[in-house]
Amino acid sequence: MAPATADVVPSPVRVAAAGLSGPRFAALPPLSLYVHIPWCLRKCPYCDFNSHEARGEVPEAAYVDALIADLELALPSIWGRRITSIFIGGGTPSLFGAPAIDRFLAAVRARVTVNPGAEVTLEANPGTFEQEKFAGFRDAGVNRLSLGIQSFEPRHLSALGRVHDADEARRAAEAALRIFGNVNFDLMYALPRQTVTEAQADLEAALAFSPPHLSFYHLTLEPNTLFHRYPPELPDDETSADIEEAVHSRLEDAGYRHYETSAYARPGRECAHNLNYWQFGDYLGIGAGAHSKLSFADRIVRQVRYKQPKQYLESVAAGAPLQEDHEVTRNDVGFEFMLNALRLTDGVPATLFAERTGYPLAIVRQGLEAAEARGLLERDPTLLRPTTLGQRFLNDLQQLFLAE
Ligand SMILES: C[S@@+](CC[C@H](N)C(=O)[O-])C[C@H]1O[C@@H](n2cnc3c(N)ncnc32)[C@H](O)[C@@H]1O
Ligand code: SF4
Repeated sequence: MAPATADVVPSPVRVAAAGLSGPRFAALPPLSLYVHIPWCLRKCPYCDFNSHEARGEVPEAAYVDALIADLELALPSIWGRRITSIFIGGGTPSLFGAPAIDRFLAAVRARVTVNPGAEVTLEANPGTFEQEKFAGFRDAGVNRLSLGIQSFEPRHLSALGRVHDADEARRAAEAALRIFGNVNFDLMYALPRQTVTEAQADLEAALAFSPPHLSFYHLTLEPNTLFHRYPPELPDDETSADIEEAVHSRLEDAGYRHYETSAYARPGRECAHNLNYWQFGDYLGIGAGAHSKLSFADRIVRQVRYKQPKQYLESVAAGAPLQEDHEVTRNDVGFEFMLNALRLTDGVPATLFAERTGYPLAIVRQGLEAAEARGLLERDPTLLRPTTLGQRFLNDLQQLFLAE
């Protein structure tokens, strides 16, 4: 038990010891900005993101005002730092008009330094009414569009409860590539009763557009979704594995690199914003339910903003949008770093661990030894890189870094 005086006397020895146990940074990590827009035309039955069905008009102007006020409140925590990328995600950000996105991005540029040429992504749904806004988004400063196509197959789009149809998906793909050039398609696989041949046909439909980037997500049944309560008939594990293999080899042949668990890119077209997450960079998240991870000279914090749009708007007006704000402990930081970095096919340089966590790599020595012994991690002291087996059993590999 601690001596009785420990609670009342601020001993210099204790202060120094506390300081020593915290992280130490030679330089703070790169900082990106995430912006959450929490509304969609309709809630998809598989989706557990913080998205709410827009009943009637969304309060676009009030929400942009709140985002700007939220950013202003956060300025002291990112003082003097540059923004390396911006991602406007959702929900369905393309529900907002281009003038609203323009007003928001201008307000960002007026308050923080955004690196010249920084990647600025906006997530868009392929509806006709969204496509009409693409040129406006580009003129507002968006230079990368992430298009939620999911599938080009009418039967699957309807099983997924999507608002758009296959023709709209094709027209949106064509318009996005013409207007932005730098485009990602979000596709999902292992869809209700999907066969390998159908998944291959979906991939060919996507490849016909030659998008610079493709994200392939395995459809998962998330708690608190309609699909979880009433599960559709999904392909078995073997079929899912066959789809993954077919997608992987076709895309590698077509010149894409599988650089992260769910992401494929042509050389140089990897998503800079997501790479920053996976390399354990910092991010400020503003908007309803947005998450932040911010490093300071002596600590790393995680923050979450109020989730319900109404509550978020009220909390910003009251000057206090944070619902959660806690320090990342020495015990957790190793696992959190590995959870991200090991998603990358090439892994990361071993030196990045100390750079981004502020602690020596030795704090995860046990996990490293166990992962190497099981053949899940490359035995290369200069790299933290999953083996092919480690990529396949990523969950098991990541769990080895959980603090006891
Ligand atoms: C949150 S959504 C936002 C983009 C946009 N609203 C859309 O749906 O197209 C981002 C992506 O997450 C993926 N996603 C959402 N729920 C998923 C689930 N249960 N399983 C796998 N992927 C999912 C979809 O591919 C979706 O495009
Ligand atoms: S449109 Fe996207 S964010 Fe909205 S409910 Fe569907 S998957 Fe979720």
